[in-house]
Amino acid sequence: MDKPISLRNPKPEDGPRVSDLIANCPPLDENSRYCNLLQCSHFSDTCVSAWMGDELVGFVSGYIPPRQPDTYFLWQIAVAAAARGQNLTQRMLDFVLELPACQQVTQLQTTITDDNEPSQRVFAKLAKRRDADIRHEPFFTREVHFDDHHDTEYLYTIGPFK
Ligand SMILES: CC(C)(COP(=O)(O)OP(=O)(O)OC[C@H]1O[C@@H](n2cnc3c(N)ncnc32)[C@H](O)[C@@H]1OP(=O)(O)O)[C@@H](O)C(=O)NCCC(=O)NCCS
Repeated sequence: MDKPISLRNPKPEDGPRVSDLIANCPPLDENSRYCNLLQCSHFSDTCVSAWMGDELVGFVSGYIPPRQPDTYFLWQIAVAAAARGQNLTQRMLDFVLELPACQQVTQLQTTITDDNEPSQRVFAKLAKRRDADIRHEPFFTREVHFDDHHDTEYLYTIGPFK
């Protein structure tokens, strides 16, 4: 039987494991190790790590944008292959939205490319569970923002939460 999975905010020492998890979760973009350390330190209050024993099996990075105090912007969500299909995404999203740092949050935003169906399903499920609207629009486009090096990222907005 699978070991139980526990959730907590990340610590700076978790940075290397976060980098390894993201590297093992294509199609996620890898970030610099330094960036993952910042997520686990300065942004720890709005990130969550999921642990099966001492193995990192899930991670959500995100923050509250400085000019949007009512919004949780989710940067990345990753679940290790060994822990998939157990609804861990929804557990981590609920954990994040109930954090003290998210008390003013009434909506979640994230960006998704057109070909990332698993991600679209994850956020459609969140919207359904929370009885919230979900809509999307182009945000960072291939031509204008990525100089043709990356597919357009669509901004998904889920909310308002009731
Ligand atoms: C996408 C990902 C986070 C899903 O993790 P997971 O723990 O297996 O997801 P859950 O068990 O919580 O499933 C949540 C919903 O998403 C759907 N889903 C998950 N993976 C899916 C896949 N590969 N294809 C289609 N739907 C998928 C599930 O069917 C479920 O909906 P349902 O209960 O209504 O059927 C994980 O596969 C992953 O880390 N992938 C690589 C990174 C990535 O693409 N991240 C998202 C972009 S930011």
